[in-house]
Amino acid sequence: MTLTFPGETPTLRRAVPATTPWWRDAVVYQVYLRSFADADGDGIGDLAGLRARLDYIAALGVDAIWLNPCYPSPQADHGYDIADYLDIDPAYGDLSTFEALQKEARDRGLRVLMDLVPNHCSIAHPWFVAALAAGPGSPERAKFHFVGGRGWRGNRPPNNWRSVFGGPAWTRVTEPDGKPGQWYLHLFDSTQPDFNWQHPEVADYFDEVLRFWFDRGVEGFRIDVAHGMAKHPTLANWRHPRKYNAHMFNRPEVHAVHRRWRALVDSYRPARELTLVGEIWVPAVAELARYLRPDELRQAFFFDLLTQPWNAAKMRSAIQSGLDNIASTGATVTWVLSNHDVHRTVTRYGQEQPTKTPDPSALIEVTRNRGPVDVQLGTARAGAGILLLLALPGSVYLYQGEELGLPEVLDLPDEVRQDPIWRRSTGTKHGRDGCRVPLPWAAAEPTFGFSLNHAAGGAPAEPWLPQPDWFAGCAVDVQQERPDSMLALYRQALACRRELWAGDAELTWDDRLDRADLLVLTRGSARAVVAFGPDPVELPAELGEIVLASVPMTGRTLPGNAAAWLRS
Ligand code: GLC
Repeated sequence: MTLTFPGETPTLRRAVPATTPWWRDAVVYQVYLRSFADADGDGIGDLAGLRARLDYIAALGVDAIWLNPCYPSPQADHGYDIADYLDIDPAYGDLSTFEALQKEARDRGLRVLMDLVPNHCSIAHPWFVAALAAGPGSPERAKFHFVGGRGWRGNRPPNNWRSVFGGPAWTRVTEPDGKPGQWYLHLFDSTQPDFNWQHPEVADYFDEVLRFWFDRGVEGFRIDVAHGMAKHPTLANWRHPRKYNAHMFNRPEVHAVHRRWRALVDSYRPARELTLVGEIWVPAVAELARYLRPDELRQAFFFDLLTQPWNAAKMRSAIQSGLDNIASTGATVTWVLSNHDVHRTVTRYGQEQPTKTPDPSALIEVTRNRGPVDVQLGTARAGAGILLLLALPGSVYLYQGEELGLPEVLDLPDEVRQDPIWRRSTGTKHGRDGCRVPLPWAAAEPTFGFSLNHAAGGAPAEPWLPQPDWFAGCAVDVQQERPDSMLALYRQALACRRELWAGDAELTWDDRLDRADLLVLTRGSARAVVAFGPDPVELPAELGEIVLASVPMTGRTLPGNAAAWLRS
């Protein structure tokens, strides 16, 4: 990579401005805590490990971190099955470690966002334990969806809804008298019972949860399955059981929950500008925009870039549709190319690119294709992709390890796989473990430096998912030394973004190079050129001075599968 930007070294101690709507153009780094850094040497990442590595995140030049769920949980879906919303899982630390983390993050100019999981809890949550014990018809069961089965003796699920992870969305319980009894609804794993959001205590409970953490300094939440809380009032069968189920997702009633939370968030103004960012999978961007109406969420992930192949026309049309649909709400677009649920970018872009438009009910499936991977090509495209993403107006969420250009670990042995998708699909879908393998920090250390405690003399336990040998080549300490590494590109790009692309300046497409495999976009005096095909492109002087490129450039020739930033 050419590092022609004179650049500022990101300062480690930036002040956090108190009132600006910081989220509108923020870059947020997603920390999958379990796999980030392990301070106590048990093979599982923890808050102390994160504290020890905060300087690394600050030096990347991001504005905030989003922590995947770190509440007490049996970890059946790695924290998305919560047993207690008002505490920290002992495997990760405790409330005082969390407080220390927040302070240290704040000292480095980093805000902390948590993950709110309101659609479902864990079967270990006290409400669910009480509901099981209390039996059919009890007030305890009313907080969930407990229903009698169909068919002879109720031995068939109440309706035809399917779990997102495979199999029916219902599980039958054994009643306190030892007999098979009612069924409960779970849109995901059977360990994740869905709350009944028509019950007033559920809504009150989540108000308390939000306030509990906001009052401890948390600056926002990513909201898990934010389109899922409301269900069809009669739990009626869905006409296409294997298609997008509009009886369980994206119901009109769900917007009332978002309005309620928005009022709660706004009650902290003007002193604090808190954000809520929704994880919302809907078949059309216009639907997504409905969640961003002025009295609802402040942000919602725009997943359409993540589901596009590496193709100029498709990316352009997805970007434009995001801008057109979301701008009218007054919100900015929240761009993402990766997260803990999809295959890593290098792998997606190093595979044969799908040509068919994905079925809206299987959008996430296209992000988890298997098949041969050209890692070098995928890496080049991922570098170009991040320059495209960071040039767009709005906020960007980055998943840990993307800055190292980690490929997906596709060949984990079956016996170590932990994702409930693997089990519920009876081994037909590999699921998401391959993007969750613990990070490599130091090429020559045991566990590649993921576990820190061996320095104190102890031998670290094996990481919770095994790291392949080739992780050594991607380790932070190796990349830190190389000006042409993905890490160097991320650092340069993030530092440069503050100067070049800050603010809401409008995006226009520049078609003067007239090539179908190129995207050229302009915002203010800055310009980005992305070459999606294999052919190089000569950048005419009138496009401006080259500030940064994703690969080394000779003169003004941008190679194929690469991107450059320019300024006039
Ligand atoms: C969201 C999370 C995913 C989790 C699921 C159930 O999609 O991102 O990791 O498994 O919700 O909570």
